[in-house]
Amino acid sequence: MGRVVRKSRSEIEKMRDAGKLAAETLAYAIGLVKPGVTTGYIDNKVDSFIRKHNAVPAPLGYGETRNRPAFPKSICTSVNEVICHGIPGKRELKEGDIICIDVTVILDGFHGDNATTVPVGNVGDEARALMRGTLESLRRGIEAARNGAKLLDVGRAIQTYAESLGYGVVEDFVGHGLGRKFHEEPQVPHVAESRGAGGGRTPNPTLKPGMTFTIEPMINAGTWRSEPLPDGWTAITADRSLSAQYEHTILVVEKGPPEILTQMPGTKSWAPAGYEP
Ligand code: MF3
Ligand code: CO
Ligand code: CO
Repeated sequence: MGRVVRKSRSEIEKMRDAGKLAAETLAYAIGLVKPGVTTGYIDNKVDSFIRKHNAVPAPLGYGETRNRPAFPKSICTSVNEVICHGIPGKRELKEGDIICIDVTVILDGFHGDNATTVPVGNVGDEARALMRGTLESLRRGIEAARNGAKLLDVGRAIQTYAESLGYGVVEDFVGHGLGRKFHEEPQVPHVAESRGAGGGRTPNPTLKPGMTFTIEPMINAGTWRSEPLPDGWTAITADRSLSAQYEHTILVVEKGPPEILTQMPGTKSWAPAGYEP
């Protein structure tokens, strides 16, 4: 694994600004969610919002490899059994769905990344319990991200809690360092003990002040296993059970729990976009 960089004071200032805009953008995005609206409509409005604030949506055009095209839209919209990286389009939201909206902005060269899952109208008890359990998993993961702790303490806190509720923790997608780059060291697993076969040694650096990374557990009502769709991006649960996700960008500090860079300004809530299911 490469070295995990620690940000300077001036870099941290820029990360704070980017995180704040990411939070405000996410709050704007979830305000658009209602039955009958398409995910493509939300993407369009959010793209304009970001540009109006002199920033750029990081997903658009990101991540082309030999096996997949660049991401074609400005946000990710992941409905029901979609775990992450859902591509906005013609799909209409309907009462009872849950949708994760993931917003990443680039402001003055620095990234802010956050996501939240919200209900569309009234949702069933299973969906509501899953959202609450996933948000609490994130809270516990954040609590563990302290100076001197080990990176995998974050995943352990998430995994222990989510599995105690009978849920599956997704392993194929992880949190990540964030700064000038969208995805940098370290990778942040949401489990300490992989349930997958094989799996080499996971890097487990000691956390130090100045590190900035995301924590973004994806928790499934059923199996932890995921499956890719042919579009090269969308991941769904292998058993088609519901999946929820919450994400914050955090800064490890000298003492105590981390500063949440994507905390919604003007609210006391620590939940992404200030929304609590
Ligand atoms: N925002 C996602 C994350 O939390 C990444 C999306 S990659 C994209 O890491 F290409 F789909 F945008
Ligand atoms: Co994200
Ligand atoms: Co992220």
